[in-house]
Amino acid sequence: MANDDGIASASPIWDALDAATRTRTAFTLGYLGTADVDGQPHVRAVIVRAVDAETGTVFFSTHSLSAKIGQLERNPLVAVTFYDAEADVQLRLEGRAEVVTDESTRRATWASFGAGTRQLFASPLRPGSPLPRADARADGGSSANASGDARDDAAGYARFAWVAVHVNDIDAIDLSADEHLRCRFTRVDGGWDTTRIVP
Ligand SMILES: Cc1cc2nc3c(=O)[nH]c(=O)nc-3n(C[C@H](O)[C@H](O)[C@H](O)COP(=O)(O)O)c2cc1C
Repeated sequence: MANDDGIASASPIWDALDAATRTRTAFTLGYLGTADVDGQPHVRAVIVRAVDAETGTVFFSTHSLSAKIGQLERNPLVAVTFYDAEADVQLRLEGRAEVVTDESTRRATWASFGAGTRQLFASPLRPGSPLPRADARADGGSSANASGDARDDAAGYARFAWVAVHVNDIDAIDLSADEHLRCRFTRVDGGWDTTRIVP
């Protein structure tokens, strides 16, 4: 992990997740699992961009038309998994996802994004949809491309979704020593109940 306090209590875990939003660490990138309407799991990388350790919440940004948004709106139960290869520590967060609708939070988050991040929302095309064939378009391919127009800030903002994952369970495993350490943290009364479990 980013610090040496280990996984025996929840607080160093949240410190490490929080640190990962300010400097790139092994926990900056998590793997978000959602289930679709058929129960089929889908897992993909997302960058954890903000953490609220007090409420046990992690946040990521995504395109509002992406498949994951439809999935988590139907079934908000999600998981986010991280692995720090150097420390040999895996964190599995489970909880409930919520698309943040509060405009002041959305505005402030959008304002914190650099040009590269805003560019991700510049295209009007739905992520995951087939790219239109250039030779099939009347304009020969000069518009509606996957890059889009980053100058249209309002359109990019409308496509941006800010997602909170309210974590209620953490499963942490540390494989770095001969004796493996595995702990479960369950959210109870605004704190974390800790149980050592069999690795
Ligand atoms: C290193 C890396 C970081 C990524 N970060 C994000 C992210 O923060 N948000 C996001 O929506 N997609 C991110 N992606 C792309 C997703 O993994 C995924 O391909 C995309 O969001 C479409 O997922 P969906 O069709 O399941 O919604 C990232 C991909 C990689 C490889």
